[in-house]
Amino acid sequence: MRISENKIEEIRITANIVDVISEYVQLRKRGKNYIGLCPFHSEKTPSFTVSEEKQMFNCFGCHKGGNVYKFLMEYEKISFIESVQELAQKYGINIELDEESSGRQSEQEILYDINTEAARYFSNNLLNHPETEIAREYFQKRKIKPQTLRSFGLGYAFPGWDHFVNYAQERKIDLERAIALGLIGQSTDGRLYDKFPGRIIFPIFSPNGRVVAFAGRIIENKENAAKYLNSPESLIYIKGRILYGLSHAKDEIRKLDKAILVEGYMDLISLHQSGIKNVVAVSGTALTEEQVQLLSRYTKNVVLLFDADTAGIKASMRSIELLLKKDMEIKIASLPAGEDPDSFVNNYGREKFEEVIKKAQNFLEYQSAYFESKGMFDDPSKTAEAIRELVKPVSIINDELKRSLLIKTIAKKFNLREKLLENELDKAIQSAGKQITNEERIKNKELIKKNVETKLQNDKKISPRILRLEKEIIKLLFEGNKEVVEYISSRIPIEDFSAEAHTKIAELVYNACNNNEEIIAGSLIEKINNEELQLFIRDLIFDKYSISRNWEDIYPGLPHEKILQKISVDTVKRYLVEKINYIIKINLKLIESTEDENERFELMKLISNLEKEKMKVKQETNLES
Ligand code: UTP
Ligand code: MN
Repeated sequence: MRISENKIEEIRITANIVDVISEYVQLRKRGKNYIGLCPFHSEKTPSFTVSEEKQMFNCFGCHKGGNVYKFLMEYEKISFIESVQELAQKYGINIELDEESSGRQSEQEILYDINTEAARYFSNNLLNHPETEIAREYFQKRKIKPQTLRSFGLGYAFPGWDHFVNYAQERKIDLERAIALGLIGQSTDGRLYDKFPGRIIFPIFSPNGRVVAFAGRIIENKENAAKYLNSPESLIYIKGRILYGLSHAKDEIRKLDKAILVEGYMDLISLHQSGIKNVVAVSGTALTEEQVQLLSRYTKNVVLLFDADTAGIKASMRSIELLLKKDMEIKIASLPAGEDPDSFVNNYGREKFEEVIKKAQNFLEYQSAYFESKGMFDDPSKTAEAIRELVKPVSIINDELKRSLLIKTIAKKFNLREKLLENELDKAIQSAGKQITNEERIKNKELIKKNVETKLQNDKKISPRILRLEKEIIKLLFEGNKEVVEYISSRIPIEDFSAEAHTKIAELVYNACNNNEEIIAGSLIEKINNEELQLFIRDLIFDKYSISRNWEDIYPGLPHEKILQKISVDTVKRYLVEKINYIIKINLKLIESTEDENERFELMKLISNLEKEKMKVKQETNLES
C-alpha cells in the first residue's frame, strides 16, 4: 500500500504524540515537556522526554528519538507503513481510498495480500467444506473450539498435489510470488505443486497481525514426513524476528507485565483458549536475540516454559543467557514429565496451570536443580564445573546490584565463600566483555554525537560564541512560528550559516515555510534521512541546558508568541553583531600586519562600513523593521 504524504501528515497531526506514548510509558509533566522512564533502555531516573509542542520524543540516555511514527516503529518493532496504519486505525482515519487512487502497492503489500488470500482459502477449507471432516475431527480431538479456529485463522490444505495451485490460477494470484512465499513449489521440469498437502495450517502473524508465513502440521503421524513444515523466509518473513502468537498476546502481556514463553503452536493456542493469553511461542527455532528484543518492548518479565526433555532443558539454558543479556527478569517453570503446556492445560485446567507458573523458579534454582539431578554436586571435580556454569549467566547481567545479590544466593546455597565466586565472576565478565553490550552501543552513539560537534567547530573555524548563537537561531526555527521563520530567513540567508549542519536545517525549514507547510519538528524530521543530522536536531530541540535567558521573566505577562518574536529579534541581532565584530577583528589584525598604506586605508574604510552596519543592526527593534 502507498499512503500519500498528506495522509501521513494528517494522521500524525491527529495523533498527539503525548497521548500515543502515554499508552506505553508513564509520563509526568515537567515544564513544557513530559518525562518518563525510557522504554528503550533500562534506567531508574527518567531521561525520556516528550515534547507536545514539537511532537517529538528524545531520550538523553540512549539517544533514541524522533516523531510519533518512529516511536511506534521502535516500540512495536514494526515498519514505517505499519506504524502509519496503526495510528490511522486507532484514530479512525481512512487510508483505503489512497490505496485505490494511487494504484501502486509496495512489493511487501502484494505479498501480504497473497498470504491473506491463501489464509482465507485454508480457513474456508477447514470450516466450510463437506469433504474436510477429517480436519475438523482432528481439532475436536485436540479440544480446539470453532471460535479458536477462527481467531487463530487455522485452516486445512487439501491432500493431492495441485489443489491450491489451481485455486491460485483461478484467482489470478501471481504464481512467482506464491512460489517465493513457499505456498507453491516448482519441480525441475517446471510443474507446480502444493507445499502443504493434507496438512493443518497455522498462519503466522506479524506483531501487527498480518500473515507473514504458514506452518503446516501433518494430521496422521507418518514415518518419514516432518511433523511441521514452515514457510521459507521471504521479504515479509524473517524467522528470527517473529514470535508466534505475539499479535494475539501483546495487549495481555502489557496488561499483566509478564509473558510466558512456550515452544509450540498448539501450546500457545490451547493456553489462549483456556484464558491464558500472555503467551508467545518460539516455535521450532532456538530463541533469537531479535525475538528477545521484540518481546522486551512489551515486558521485562518472562516465564520460560519449555518441555522437560533434554532438548527443552538445553533450549532453556541457551534462552536464559539471551534473556539475561537484555536485562529481562526470568523465571523457569516446569511441567510433569511427559506433559507439554497444551496437554497439561487440557488435562488439568487453567488453575493448575497457573499454579505451575506461580511456582516458577529463578534461573539459579533451576540450573542448580538440573546440575544436582545430574549428580554433579556429588563429585568435587564436577562441582567446580557446575559452579562455573552457574556463575556464567550471572556475569551477563548488566546490573551490578543484581549480580552481587545472585552471587550471595549461590554462596549461601552451596556453602561457598563469596570471594571465590566473585573471582569466577570477574573471569566470566572479562570473557563476556568481548561482546558488544548495550552500554557500549550507547557509548558509540555518544561518539557520533561528539564527532558531529567537533565537525561543527571545525566547519569554518568560527568562534564558539557565534556558533552558540547560531544554534539558538536554529532552535528558534523549530518553534513552529511562521513569522519567526520568515524574519530569520530575511535576515540570514542559508549560505551565511557557519556550520554545514545549520545550513542544511535552515534550508529545510525555510523551504517548508515558503511552501506554507506546518513548521513542526515532528513533521520536518521525516524529510531528513541522515541519522547524524536527526540526532543533532533532537539534541538541539531537547537541549536540557538551554542557554536562552529566562525571557518569561524579562517580559512578564506578554503572550508566548510575542516573547518568541522578541527573543528572535534579539538573538538575530546579537548574532549579526557578533559576526560583524568578528570580521572587524580579523580586519584589524590585517591592518596591523600590512605595510601597504593603500591596503590599510581600504581596510579602515571597510571597518567603518562594518561599524555602520553594526549600528543599523543594533537599532532594529521588532519583526516589522
Ligand atoms: P513438538 O514436537 O513439541 O510439537 O514441537 P508440539 O508443539 O507439541 O505440537 P503437537 O502438540 O504435537 O501438535 C514443538 C514446536 O517445534 C516446532 C513447532 O513449532 C512445534 O510447535 N517443530 C516441531 C517444527 O517446526 N518442525 C517439526 O518437525 C517439529
Ligand atoms: Mn504438543
